[in-house]
Amino acid sequence: MLHNLFRTKPVDQIVAEGGQGELKRSMSLVQLTMFSVGATLGTGIFVVLGEAVPLVGPAIVLSFILAAITALFSALSYAELAGTIPVSGSSYSYTYATMGELIAWISGWCLLLEYAVSVSAVAVGWGQYLNDFFRQTFHFTLPEAISNPPGSGGYLNIPAIVVVMLAMLLLLQGASESATVNTVMVFLKIGVLIFFCVVAFTAFDTGNLKPFAPMGWAGIQAAGSKVFFSYIGFDAASTAGEEAKNPRRDLPLAIIGSLVIVTVVYVAVGLAAVGAMPWTEFKAGESEASLSLVLERATGLSWPSAVLSFGAVIAIASVVLSVMYGQTRILFAMSRDGLVPRVFQRVSANRRVPVANTLIVSGFIALLAAVVPLGHLADATSIGTLFAFGLVNIGVIVLRRSRPDLNRSFRTPLYPITPILGVLFCAALIFTLDHVTQQIFLIWMAVGLVVYFAYSRRHSLLGRQGTGPSPTQKGAS
Ligand code: ALA
Repeated sequence: MLHNLFRTKPVDQIVAEGGQGELKRSMSLVQLTMFSVGATLGTGIFVVLGEAVPLVGPAIVLSFILAAITALFSALSYAELAGTIPVSGSSYSYTYATMGELIAWISGWCLLLEYAVSVSAVAVGWGQYLNDFFRQTFHFTLPEAISNPPGSGGYLNIPAIVVVMLAMLLLLQGASESATVNTVMVFLKIGVLIFFCVVAFTAFDTGNLKPFAPMGWAGIQAAGSKVFFSYIGFDAASTAGEEAKNPRRDLPLAIIGSLVIVTVVYVAVGLAAVGAMPWTEFKAGESEASLSLVLERATGLSWPSAVLSFGAVIAIASVVLSVMYGQTRILFAMSRDGLVPRVFQRVSANRRVPVANTLIVSGFIALLAAVVPLGHLADATSIGTLFAFGLVNIGVIVLRRSRPDLNRSFRTPLYPITPILGVLFCAALIFTLDHVTQQIFLIWMAVGLVVYFAYSRRHSLLGRQGTGPSPTQKGAS
């Protein structure tokens, strides 16, 4: 029984199945990098920045760097495994090859939090930005009843449904088409943030940076945990392994490149914001308006805020698009292994996209976003993500030991220090999150285990083919 739970799927088999070409290899390095940037750069910088500044003061810049270092360890591990096992399942597939089926299932279940649940929360937020944009530009807002879920003053969140449906229509056109639109949106959102920096720097006053760290190291750390959210998503390129033109070379570059790009943007925006407005004027409850306020103070005009809201609308739409894409590809890989129903792996003959999968995922996300006030479930996405990151770091160590012979297009430097630090940083952040969030995560995991034992274990293809090797069998697979 135990042996069955920890049966691993041989790396060569995973790579061979991924190489069968059901999906279309159409994505270039730029498109892959922009997919990861698309999934990463969103609510974090437009909203969470404003919530984090009151915790730390001008040293928010250091908090962004601290969170980037935390993400970097895991990004290096993702890069190594994505270059070695270039398939669509991201950490789910890496875990299947290294730690066995049960842990792979747990990883896939965590990814459901990182992708599907988080994107529902992000889609809910999109409506608020759309309303801001309408208010600033056209002086009207959508009625509460149709722009909020029940429990938050409305009946149905129509904007959330709209953004999910738009993303769905695009995804059904094909991966490359979606990637092209996403690339345009990413350039737009970076453009708007550069506009923010330029305007804010005109009002830059070094006096605003003193004292630099009024809350000391504790503040830097607290804000660092908060802004870690803004780095989630750099791993999205790892779900495109089977649609990348040159996955072994491009996936590691896209993952690390996207992390570098977003770090530079975050540090620049953070510095511009606290340099242009005294940090004491950032109010946690009005975080959404913080960046607008910076622009208003710098220019005395209101139109730059409308530009910013437009940037947020585009930014968040591109997060929805790229994260939904990632979720469909992870389920595609899980379905190929029999752990979720076969319908998720059916690919259309003409466009070579998983159509039913895309429709089901979009329907589920739209429903969740339209009627459920997500609250703590959305917070649990950070734990789910950190858990999946932790498993990827461990996966690097296990695979180096069990398959030292594999062709690795990228090797994480300073091995084994980096993956070990990656695990420790993820664990530290998990323990700094609040208890309610931790409890919700445990309930989520318990539900996942019930699903695994009730359905997935019985339908596992690996199980039907006879058990694979266990992870402790050195040289196995
Ligand atoms: N990193 C993503 C965002 O900030 C989740 O929206």
